[in-house]
Formats: sequence, structure tokens, C-alpha cells
Amino acid sequence: MKAVLCKAFGPPETLVVEETEAPRIKQNEVLLEVHAAGVNFPDTLIIEGKYQFKPPFPFSPGGEASGVVLEVGEKVTHLKVGDRVMGLTGWGGFAEQVAMPGHGVLPMPADMSFETAAAFSMTYGTSMHALRQRANLQPGETLLVLGASGGVGLAAVEIGKAMGARVIAAASTAEKLEVARNAGADELINYSEGSLREQMKTLTGGQGVDVIYDPVGGGLFEEAFRSIAWNGRMLVVGFAAGEIPSLPANLPLLKGAALVGVFWGAFAQRQPQDNLANFRQLFAWYGEGKLKPLVSRTFPLEQAPEAIATLGQRRAVGKVVVKVR
Ligand SMILES: NC(=O)c1ccc[n+]([C@@H]2O[C@H](COP(=O)([O-])OP(=O)(O)OC[C@H]3O[C@@H](n4cnc5c(N)ncnc54)[C@H](OP(=O)(O)O)[C@@H]3O)[C@@H](O)[C@H]2O)c1
Repeated sequence: MKAVLCKAFGPPETLVVEETEAPRIKQNEVLLEVHAAGVNFPDTLIIEGKYQFKPPFPFSPGGEASGVVLEVGEKVTHLKVGDRVMGLTGWGGFAEQVAMPGHGVLPMPADMSFETAAAFSMTYGTSMHALRQRANLQPGETLLVLGASGGVGLAAVEIGKAMGARVIAAASTAEKLEVARNAGADELINYSEGSLREQMKTLTGGQGVDVIYDPVGGGLFEEAFRSIAWNGRMLVVGFAAGEIPSLPANLPLLKGAALVGVFWGAFAQRQPQDNLANFRQLFAWYGEGKLKPLVSRTFPLEQAPEAIATLGQRRAVGKVVVKVR
């Protein structure tokens, strides 16, 4: 089969596309004929050796995929050969076939395309878990989303609206903010122009926001936290800016506020029934037209390195997808 291969840690241009052996599955896995694979920020990290997992060489990046089940391990009971499915691969999605842990694979909604399905699991799964289980976001509360036009950020904007929050989208350019507005954001903040704190203050009448969703990190983190409301919750989702920030401990004290970690992959593994319930709700909202996943660009398998580079260079909006078939 054809696959994008990482043979040594390095930037996207060091990846190669080659013929390689098809994977063999374990008892708890399924073999997928990959139709499409979503690109996520961790793909930029895993090829550079900067991610929490370091697979043995050579490996294919690609953390999520959609396609058709070719083979089912004997311990996987909820899927059969021929099912159209979507889910997490860990890595290996940028290839014609991939072995996937069965617990992370779900049948696709009947009316969903392979491209959309490949763009769905990671971003909506993460943002749903963040806003539902970790923030306990309530209707009428104010939600600030940083990096609001990116993969997980845009999903958070849509889910926040579906949950009845007032959503303030924050991003680095006017074009990116327009994407967030189209996804339903009520208010917009451009954090490249002027102080994030001042703009938050103006938009909330000095009250601050109830929930902050932060996949960016860096300098925005403390600035945002300083404008959180009494009883606020700040969600630590990721560090796309590259710097892991720290926070003086007096700030949560003064606001009666919480700093809340989000690790969706571990949640899905430890609490599979809760994760399944999240996806039932997400698929229902998708069916009602409340979620409209944005696939802004697709690339053929041979151009997967360029697809990964668009995220690493801060050029992507919504989701970028690699079309394998
Ligand atoms: N905790 C979890 O369970 C979980 C799950 C999935 C992903 N994540 C994390 O969430 C973060 C976002 O992932 P994603 O797939 O949504 O990525 P993405 O689509 O590339 O979005 C990241 C956003 O971060 C902002 N950003 C700021 N500085 C950046 C820089 N130097 N390079 C790239 N982007 C920068 C960009 O928005 P602006 O230009 O508007 O600032 C961009 O839209 C990553 O850190 C990822 O590891 C965490």
C-alpha cells in the first residue's frame, strides 16, 4: 500500500510517500480502507518528535481517519466488515490502510461524507468533552474561544452556541474572525490588534467571561485569565503558540475560578460510555444542522506534507483533510 512515511524526526518536507507493507491488526483493532484523514495540530508535533507519543520508525502520521472496515479483530463486537466508519488512529492515517483501536471507531452518520467524517472526531470530540464534562457550560453563560477559527476552536464555537452560550470568538486576523462569525459567534475579538483584556472587559461590561476555551497558550493565557468572571472556568486545551504558560496561583483564588485540564483521548479511553453519549448528541446536532464542519482545503495523499505545513505555519482555518481515495 501507499503511505506517507516519517523515517526520522523533522519538518513536513522530510516526509516521503512510498509503497510499504499493509498493517496487521490485533484482536482489539479493525483494519480500515482509508478514504480520508483529518489533519490535526499533533501531526505537526509527532513528526518532529515533540508529541507525547513517539512511534517507532518508519511510521505514518495522521491521527484520525474515515473509510470502510476491511477486517475486524475478534474482541471488537460493535463493527463489521463493510461498515463506513470514522475515528482515531493515534497515527497511521496518511496511508491507504490503517489499523485502528476498535474502541475509538464509530459508524458514520448515513448522510456524512468521508471528508467531513475525517474532520469530525478529534475536534468535536475534544470540544464537546471540554465544554460539557470539564466546564459544565450552562445556557446563558459567556464563552470565550481563543484560536476560534482553528480545528478545535471552531468546533467549540459551534458547540457553545448549540449549548445556549453567548460566544465570543477571538483570533489573530479579520479573515479568521469572519470564519468564526459564519460558525455562529456572537462577538469577535482580534487579539493582534489591541489588548485582549480591554476588549473582553468592554464586551462583558466589566463582568468577565464565565468559560475560556484555550487551545493556544503562550502570552494570551494569563491575559485571558485575568478577565475571567467570578466562578469562571478556564479550559487548558493546548499550546499551539508553542509556549506552555504558567499562572500565579493568587489569580484563581481572587476570582473563585478554576483552571481545568482537558485530555479528550484519555477521557475517551477511560469513560467510553460518556464519550459515546457525547457523540450521540453531536450527531443529533449535526442532523439538525447546528454543526456544520468546515473542511477548508483537501490535499491528495502525495501532498500530505503540505497539508501538515498549513497548520504548523498558522495558515489553516477549520479543518484540512487528506483525501486518500
Ligand atoms: N487537550 C486535548 O484533548 C486536545 C485535543 C486535540 C487538540 N489539542 C490541542 O489543541 C491545539 C489546537 O489544535 P488544532 O488541531 O485545532 O490546531 P489548528 O487548527 O492549527 O488551530 C490552532 C490555532 O492556534 C492559533 N495559533 C496561535 N499561534 C500559533 C502558532 N504559532 N502556530 C499555529 N497556530 C497558532 C491559530 O489561531 P490564530 O492565528 O487565530 O491565533 C490556530 O487557528 C493544539 O495544541 C493541539 O495539540 C488538544
